[in-house]
Amino acid sequence: MVIESLRVPIVAAPMAGGPTTPELVAAVSAAGGFGQLAAGYLAADAMAAQIAATRAATTAPFGMNLFAPGPVAEPADYAAYLAELGVDHPLGTPRHDTDAWADKLDLLVADPIAVVSTTFGCPTAVEVDRLHAVGTEVWVTVTSPAEALIALDAGADALIAQGAEAGGHRASFLDDPAEDIVDPPGLLTLIQLLSAVTARPIIAAGGIATGAGLAAVLAAGAAAGQLGTVFLRCPEAGTNAVHRAAIGSTEPTMLTRAFTGRRARGIRNSFLEAHTATAPAAYPEIHYATAPLRAAARAAGNSDDVNLWAGQAHSLTREQSAGELVAELAADAKNALRKALSE
Ligand SMILES: Cc1cc2nc3c(=O)[nH]c(=O)nc-3n(C[C@H](O)[C@H](O)[C@H](O)COP(=O)(O)O)c2cc1C
Repeated sequence: MVIESLRVPIVAAPMAGGPTTPELVAAVSAAGGFGQLAAGYLAADAMAAQIAATRAATTAPFGMNLFAPGPVAEPADYAAYLAELGVDHPLGTPRHDTDAWADKLDLLVADPIAVVSTTFGCPTAVEVDRLHAVGTEVWVTVTSPAEALIALDAGADALIAQGAEAGGHRASFLDDPAEDIVDPPGLLTLIQLLSAVTARPIIAAGGIATGAGLAAVLAAGAAAGQLGTVFLRCPEAGTNAVHRAAIGSTEPTMLTRAFTGRRARGIRNSFLEAHTATAPAAYPEIHYATAPLRAAARAAGNSDDVNLWAGQAHSLTREQSAGELVAELAADAKNALRKALSE
């Protein structure tokens, strides 16, 4: 298993939309961790180009993360929301797609890499078998024990446990607003709940920003931590300038469907405050509808209309090279574990 062979128990979270680059993946593996590319929002040929660029930058194994397709939303369910946004903003045309799921899987089977991970859902057992047949491990992101059971049943080799603290989209298989009254489990709770249902490796994601945080999830039984937000300020990351400038402030984060129609954690800004209460579950329809307004805001340096995805611990991040960051987190985690044992 890839996860058992790492020098350092750190996985770089795949971050679609720009932050993840081949350079970031290469730097994390050079420091002994494991890097994952992000295929979300990309066409299949653009995903292939990312793989080629990563192979040119490192000989280390790496992963690719796919968005699993979800249900088509009814236009009637988001018409009122578009009307609300359209008062102040230029909008794109809402549409549904599968994020080229089938084409991407075909490509990954034809030209295999070490790991394929998924978010928003689980590949079928047949799809998992196709990847296994070419030597690829399958990691499925889960947010609850119920999702874990589905992933284990399909043949997942490892579970990425995404706690409530995590930045970016919730990985939930279903994004049901009726379930918003239930608090999603925090990471430490989730690791314990998943450990009760599986002995397969658990990769812990959500709010890990220090060596002590990494030590905590390892002590709880995780095989590694998967960190996203801490890498956003690295020079190797492709984080856009508005997003980069917002990470590291003391502004709190909140969960919202306002930008994409799928629940995600981002830094509070006036767009989230104005529209979170009314935003429907309609992904990727709302993602396409808000794309022009977000692009315009990025170009204008207006952080109020940009999706500033970040985990709850983003204020602890620093500007630092990915290699240094991984080395420092690993050393601090060791010290934290030693200290916990000696007292
Ligand atoms: C900007 C950003 C983009 C993300 N994009 C993806 C993605 O494409 N696929 C995925 O599985 N997770 C994605 N995530 C979630 C991460 O995999 C992970 O769960 C999260 O970063 C962990 O929490 P942390 O950000 O507090 O470290 C993203 C997170 C952020 C912050």
